[in-house]
Parts: sequence; C-alpha cells; structure tokens
Amino acid sequence: MKHPIAHLFDGHDDVQAEIDARAADPADHLAETARLIEGRHPKRLALTVTEVIEETASTRTFRLRRPDGSDLPPFLAGQYVAVFTDGTNRPYAISSSPSRLDRYDLTVRRVPGGRVSNHLIDTVAVGDVLTTSGPMGTFHHNPLFHGEDVVFLAGGSGVVPAMSMIREIADDRLGRRFHLIYGSRNVDDVIFRDELDALAADHPDLRVDHVIGEPDPSWAGPTGLLTSGIISTLAGPLDGRMVYVCGPQALYPYALDQLTALGHPRRRIRFEANGAPARPEAQPHWPSDADPAEEVTVTFRGRSFRTPRSRPLLDALEDQGVRPEAACRSGECSLCRVRVRKGDVHNAQEAQLRLSDATSGHVHSCVAYPLTDLELDL
Ligand code: FES
Repeated sequence: MKHPIAHLFDGHDDVQAEIDARAADPADHLAETARLIEGRHPKRLALTVTEVIEETASTRTFRLRRPDGSDLPPFLAGQYVAVFTDGTNRPYAISSSPSRLDRYDLTVRRVPGGRVSNHLIDTVAVGDVLTTSGPMGTFHHNPLFHGEDVVFLAGGSGVVPAMSMIREIADDRLGRRFHLIYGSRNVDDVIFRDELDALAADHPDLRVDHVIGEPDPSWAGPTGLLTSGIISTLAGPLDGRMVYVCGPQALYPYALDQLTALGHPRRRIRFEANGAPARPEAQPHWPSDADPAEEVTVTFRGRSFRTPRSRPLLDALEDQGVRPEAACRSGECSLCRVRVRKGDVHNAQEAQLRLSDATSGHVHSCVAYPLTDLELDL
C-alpha cells in the first residue's frame, strides 16, 4: 500500500520498490551488505608507503597507497586512521585532501618518548606496508551545523587536520571561509608553511596567520601564545563562527579560556580528541586520597598484574600483550570498551560513555584509570 505522504519524498517509489523486491527475494543479502560496508568502512587496510616527505626536522609525511593503486575508502577532511605497529596503535590525522583518494598522507611529528611516532619516523621507509584502520573520527566540518565561516586554532602538529580541510577547499573550490591561526614554537617548526602561504595567496576565502612563540629577530609576524588578544586582532569578531581547536593537550583548556574571555559560546567551539590525559589526578573527580603512582592489581581471564593508577587500562593491558580493539585512544570511538566486574575506575572527562555502557559497567579503557584492585571482563 502506498504511504499517504509518499508524494512528499523524492524517490520514495524507487526505494519502496527496492524494499519490496528484497522482501520478496529469499536470497540472503547479508553477505552483499557486509561486502558493501567493508568496502566503505574497512576495519583494516594494508597500505604501502610510497613516499616519505620530510616536512620539518621532527615531522614526516608518510604517503600511503593501496598496493594495486586503486582508490582508498572515502573520508572527511579532519578524520584520522589508526596505525597498528609495534604491538599497539595510534591515531594519525590525514593531511591529504579527501578529493584525492589515491593516497592517505599521514603527517607525524616526533613525540619525546612517543613509542609509535618515533618508530614510524626512525624505521618506516618507502616500500614498507603499514596496517591501518579505515578513516574514523568526528572532528570534521559539517556545513549544516558549523556554517561556512570557520576559524581553526592549531598548535604544532594540530595543523594536520586543518591542512586536509584547506586542501579540500582549494581542490573543490568550496565557498567556505577558512581562517587558520597556527601557533608554533619557532619558524623552523612550522609544518606545511610554503604550501599554506601559497594556498592562502591563491584563494580569497583562505587566510593563514602564523603565530611564533619563540621567534628569532627576523620574524616580523605575530608572536607569543594564541591569546584572546591575538585571536581577536587576527580573526576579528567571532560572532556565529565555528572555532576548531587542535594541538597539544595544554592548548585545549587554554584556548577555551581565551575564547570564553572573548564571549564565544562553548557550543561554537570544537575540540579534536587528543589522547588520554597525562595527569588524570588533575581532573576534578579524581579522589583526593588516591595516590596516582600507587599500584593496584588488575585481574582478567584468570591472570593478574600490577599497574599504577595513573596508567590508562588500555596501555596497561597492552603491556601484558593483550590487544583490545582500539582506534582513537581518546575516549571517543568506544572500540576499547571493557567491562569492570569489580572495583572502581576513574573515567576521564574525555570518556564519551553511552548511558547503556555506564549502567552495564563498561568503560573506555583508553581513558579509564584503575583506582582500586579490578576484575575485568575482556
Ligand atoms: S580507543 Fe576509542 S574510545 Fe578508546
């Protein structure tokens, strides 16, 4: 029977005909559907490193392609893939344009003590194969909710998702105003400087301002931190504009303070997820009597190990050779869920727990810290 308001929806009859045909066809469509989904949202990709580009002394871009040269699954500018290597994984934002699906460019900055970033920079070469997840993440532009006038505050390698957004605007001639305010410690640390400046010169809707924290005497541009004064001088009134923030963890509370001082509402600010908090004990709901350095016992599948309270459960499990599924490592994607059968954890503010997870005792292990002895279901 035809739905009474079917005439209001373009293409309704075609969709209904497809549904009717499938309902009448006894064939099992699950395999076909699974194949379609796997093509668009693959769990794993094996990609060949076809180029390694030295961006700065501490930053490399790894250009990844499919071994057969075919197009990669689509992504939205701002998304990341998780790279699996050395017994763990880390998310890296894609810096290339979503309009060029022959490659994913992953731009990686060396992190002091960083297990995966250093491994990639020191050992990965052209011809190597890297295992990644498909593209993931919610830190991307949504024209419906974010509008077409965007300010992006980036610090250090936080410029990587901005670069993908800018390249997309340039490639597709999108009618979107995009103002990047990019803070770096010194001029030599600026990633993509030449390309950013060239794109801004070529596209009237793109603007790029570099702010240098510790400039040498030859630097004539803005200096210091991304203060409210600098933001307001460079960007002008923020009214109604969406502000994206991506950079080191310390940038987030700082940028929020500066934007709040400018009267910018929290709902017009988007932060990229950025790893587990390095000092969970600094969060307001960490119990004051819980020494972060003290060890507790974690038990799972009949095994037990000791780990400090300050170590995220996911890292502690990986230390034991256990590899829960994981991608964002920032509390967002929920892939690393484990159930706490007994004991208390500190769920970091970053944990985006669904109500059903919270009520069933599940935590996002990448941002959950063991406060007491624990028993886990894995
Ligand atoms: S890995 Fe994404 S929520 Fe933990």
